[in-house]
Amino acid sequence: MKEKALLLYSGGLDTSVMIKWLQEQLNLDVVTLTLDVGQEKNDLQRIAEKAKKLGAVKTITEDVTKKFSDDFVAHGIMNDGLYQDKYPLSTSLARPLMSMEAVKFAEQNKCTTVVHGSTGKGNDQVRFEVSIKALNENLTVIAPVREMNMNRDEEIEYAKLRNIEIPYGGKYSVDENLWGRSVEGSSMEFIDEGVPEDAYRWVLPVEKSGDKPEVVSITFNGGLPVELNGKPMLLRDIIAELNYKAGQSGVGAIDMIEDRVVGIKSHEFYECPAAITIISGHKYLESLVLNKKESQLKKVMDQQFADMVYSGLWFDPAMDHIKRFQQSINGVVNGTVKLKLYKGNVIPMGVDSTNSLYDIFMSTYGKNQTFDQSKAPGFIYVFGSQTITTRKVRKKQFGEIIIEE
Ligand code: ARG
Repeated sequence: MKEKALLLYSGGLDTSVMIKWLQEQLNLDVVTLTLDVGQEKNDLQRIAEKAKKLGAVKTITEDVTKKFSDDFVAHGIMNDGLYQDKYPLSTSLARPLMSMEAVKFAEQNKCTTVVHGSTGKGNDQVRFEVSIKALNENLTVIAPVREMNMNRDEEIEYAKLRNIEIPYGGKYSVDENLWGRSVEGSSMEFIDEGVPEDAYRWVLPVEKSGDKPEVVSITFNGGLPVELNGKPMLLRDIIAELNYKAGQSGVGAIDMIEDRVVGIKSHEFYECPAAITIISGHKYLESLVLNKKESQLKKVMDQQFADMVYSGLWFDPAMDHIKRFQQSINGVVNGTVKLKLYKGNVIPMGVDSTNSLYDIFMSTYGKNQTFDQSKAPGFIYVFGSQTITTRKVRKKQFGEIIIEE
């Protein structure tokens, strides 16, 4: 009996070529797995039929949008997860889920190999391979695009010879899910001009975005959105609705020069309208309910989280500790934030929380204030004494300290 390989199959050219290649070159039976993570083209039925036609012995399709939002994106929100302070980790967060599903179905179907469609130059190969191996060390993982070393023209030739339908993929390399859309390649490789308009799909370029501001209110419980405009909704549905609303207001277009795990700098364009809106609201609410030390500590953890997710270390045990910390600190992140979405901006329009640490009687410059100002001079005397003393001593030792202009 032939050995079986489980292929993470998107229906695109790369992975379609792979079905044939695995049969012809490696003499493997191919089981395909196609996951709906909220990408736009998610006609799973049609994709499965295509796999069957190309000779797959079994096709599996699964809608994992709820799992993705609740078990992966939710952590992205609680951690304010932004790689290099910009990228909401949309592609990065989906990879451990896809790896988990691949391992589960490989085991169930007695596959010895898992196959993914990443190249040898990106982050995704790292994410898939570290995750799959961390979950089941005995599985062999292969990446034919990397191993075949075929360029796109050769692939098209290979596909034509075997009657593989060549989908019109547009000129960019695109990855989509509920949390965002990643675009790279083609003319974006030249960085002396901005991102061309034809790379946009979810976000309206600012000039074309709505002239009327859109105000939304997001209610958080335990750090997670539970209501949109006062209506209780599933996280997945809140994200989907905000992707549309914020996108129409020009919010969520991110142009960045990014440092990949494999050391390459690359020009990336992301469209993440919901992610940018939700994380902005979450951060604003945090500034109301966390104290200074909590915020500082959280920032360190947030950055570690983003770096680990980006680098494919979702299944590192350190991640479990970060998750526990986040669960604990997000326990007080409850309340409602109102946000105005306008011409690419997310503008706070008020916040309310039962866990608020803001005391108007302490901060007001008006009457009825409760802050005892008579204590301030004593505080300043103690607080500033080292700075003042050091300056005095140095002046005696070295003369007037000249500050270079
Ligand atoms: N640079 C991003 C990341 O590593 C996106 C890569 C997604 N792939 C693509 N074909 N656009 O998470």
